[in-house]
Amino acid sequence: MQIKVLLNESEMPRQWYNLAVDLPTPLAPPLGPDGKPITPDMLSAVFPMNLIEQEVSQERWIDIPEQILEILYRWRPSPLHRATFLEKALGTPARIYFKNESVSPAGSHKPNTAVAQAWYNKQAGIQRITTETGAGQWGSALAFACSLIGLECKVYMVRISFDQKPFRKMMMETWGATCIPSPSEQTEFGRSILRQFPNTPGSLGIAISEAVEDAVSDTSGKTRYSLGSVLNHVMLHQTIIGLEAKKQLEKIGERNVDVVIGCVGGGSNFAGLAFPFVCDKINGKDIDIIPVEPTSCPTLTRAPFGYDHGDTAGLTPLLAMHSLGHKFIPPPIHAGGLRYHGMAPLVSQALEDGLLNPRSYPQLDCYEAALTFARSEGIIVAPETSHAVAAAIQEARQATEEGKEKVILFNLSGHGLMDLYGYHKYLNNELSNHWLADEEIQRAAKDLKDFPKPHQTV
Ligand SMILES: Cc1ncc(COP(=O)(O)O)c(C=O)c1O
Repeated sequence: MQIKVLLNESEMPRQWYNLAVDLPTPLAPPLGPDGKPITPDMLSAVFPMNLIEQEVSQERWIDIPEQILEILYRWRPSPLHRATFLEKALGTPARIYFKNESVSPAGSHKPNTAVAQAWYNKQAGIQRITTETGAGQWGSALAFACSLIGLECKVYMVRISFDQKPFRKMMMETWGATCIPSPSEQTEFGRSILRQFPNTPGSLGIAISEAVEDAVSDTSGKTRYSLGSVLNHVMLHQTIIGLEAKKQLEKIGERNVDVVIGCVGGGSNFAGLAFPFVCDKINGKDIDIIPVEPTSCPTLTRAPFGYDHGDTAGLTPLLAMHSLGHKFIPPPIHAGGLRYHGMAPLVSQALEDGLLNPRSYPQLDCYEAALTFARSEGIIVAPETSHAVAAAIQEARQATEEGKEKVILFNLSGHGLMDLYGYHKYLNNELSNHWLADEEIQRAAKDLKDFPKPHQTV
């Protein structure tokens, strides 16, 4: 019985895959305040030019620099596991596989892009990076990468997660970063939010505004901002996950995958696993590709597709994406990393092009699935990841009903060892489900109406 499929360092992919080149409908460009497509120069106060070039790249394959590979070798290639024990617990004929991204030093997929972004910033002569973090996974990943590459790092952590997950802050400090709760007194935007809503749980949109304001107001020009999801170059860096998974499935003799699953906050771990399979689907393969989100923040399943800002203050360009509106503050569920009002333009466009079948679950269903997983496979997954586990279990149960030998692949995007308070509350019946009211969706549609419309879809 083979449970783990391993690759050695020399088998690791040498290039990232850029889905933008293969999407049936080209991405609608980001727009500036005047409603016209932005130019790379307009982004240069926020990001270094080498990353901006990747953001707009029209190359299908982009070489991974050797020095980045050398850092990734610390934990990559990550193992592909056959979830034999979960299969037995469910009594399913399905073969379930998961890509284990929880083995990175920070505990999630986030270091795949953190290392790349820190490296490109360093190459561009940048000395300090600011960022936001939801659950703390991204902030700790960037703190880890900056400590290896030699950059200062400042993290604005969404208030509710800062309170729920104190150990994440300690991890960031151990790697030499500074972490403060958002909204904070340290930016103009943070102060304005605190004046209006002194008890706000915060949101990723607010934290992004603060981190961008911090970066662009450094007059030395040596600070840039880094985003852990949503943008094209982040999706690109994460594709190493799916490219490895394809090699591993081939190695274990799986020719076809029926279902590919990932949870979605801003879209990066899903994109990382799924985009190489989306490419296969574009080229005729029959694969069900399922992004999974919380019912309390249903960007792909219910929110409109249109232009919107990536942050609450409206500092970022307008991005063509599914969005609940940049002023939307999601309810404080425990999967903090899925509390984002928008969705990556690449994931949003893939949905518009009919390539994805999104699904949403309430948090109690996800915790129940996470317990089934912990008590069979042994791994305590992050609350974000539990959404992918819930979908994998539902697919396996359906395979049982249909008597089908389906192959199911999901992304185990992170472990939940810093998120045990959520498990504690679930086990003590202190959590409840939440569905977003229709009025919230109508309000989102109204908010987006003021912005230009992206090109019509196929
Ligand atoms: C473990 C884990 N999975 C998933 C996510 C969601 O982000 P993304 O959709 O960018 O993968 C996060 C975000 O913080 C996370 O920490």
